Amino acid sequence: MENFKKLQIITVLALALVLTACGGVPEEKTAAAGEDKAFSVEEVLEMVAKENDVTRTLYTKAIVGKGKKQGMKFDEDWRKDDVEAGPLPALFLRGVATSIRKSPVPLGLYLGSDYPVNAANKFEGKQAELFDEIKKDQKPQFFYDEDQKLHTAMFADLASAGACVTCHNDHPQTAKSDWKLGDVMGATTWQYPKDSLTYKETVAVLNSYAQGTVDIYMEYLDEIDAFKESEKPTIGDKWPAEGNYLPTAEVFLDSVRKLASYETMKQLVAAK
Ligand code: HEC
Repeated sequence: MENFKKLQIITVLALALVLTACGGVPEEKTAAAGEDKAFSVEEVLEMVAKENDVTRTLYTKAIVGKGKKQGMKFDEDWRKDDVEAGPLPALFLRGVATSIRKSPVPLGLYLGSDYPVNAANKFEGKQAELFDEIKKDQKPQFFYDEDQKLHTAMFADLASAGACVTCHNDHPQTAKSDWKLGDVMGATTWQYPKDSLTYKETVAVLNSYAQGTVDIYMEYLDEIDAFKESEKPTIGDKWPAEGNYLPTAEVFLDSVRKLASYETMKQLVAAK
């Protein structure tokens, strides 16, 4: 929980930084500006999808890819007591989605495909139609889901690492076994109830995503803590590329922020 508190402080500091950067307006005006509608839902979902791309690639390459070379295990049944392993990338994402769902932020996140490993992840209806478009040009798709009353954005999920391709092709339940590097393997679907967001709401969306990655990552570290048979990696400021190490949740999130936040911050600051 120590880590958790520190992260909250870092998050608050980052927010303060963003608000200060927005032109250095006097305090009471900053508060008022925070209530204005600052971004369209499309812009915000694009920002959070970008953060997700970075997080997902970092987790897949630097933790799963490099970790496997150190003998670390990742498994779809990682939560079972007799399985000593970490979450697969898709389950890491599902963990983020679960954490966001439990938060007060009304943001939805889902990872689907037309040829899924898990049949429950198959796109249907409008999302299946739009996914066909995404496969053609890899461009995001936006629509208003009338049934759910939710603004919906879909972004291509690319086979960005060799591990994506080999694991899916070899999986016993796979619906397709000729995936190639760079293929559109699926899409992340994001949903939000309102068509525009204030600064506050925008930062809340970004923070709930970041908190979601911390929550699932900490669950992984807790799982390791409970290992009985397997060798436990040392948890600190080193990464699996250097040996049997794993970064702490702060070190992991810090790297995500370094890689992604600059772009996000530029957008947050440019809007006014
Ligand atoms: C070690 C194995 C493994 C690796 C590596 C892996 N996946 Fe998966 N992936 C799975 C499994 C298993 C599921 C199904 C999880 C579930 O039960 O929802 C899945 C789910 C998915 C889904 C949702 C649709 C489906 O197939 O069920 C997409 C899209 C996806 N993965 C893309 C990727 C991409 C892109 C990468 C690399 C960045 C990647 N995966 C890496 C095993 C893997």
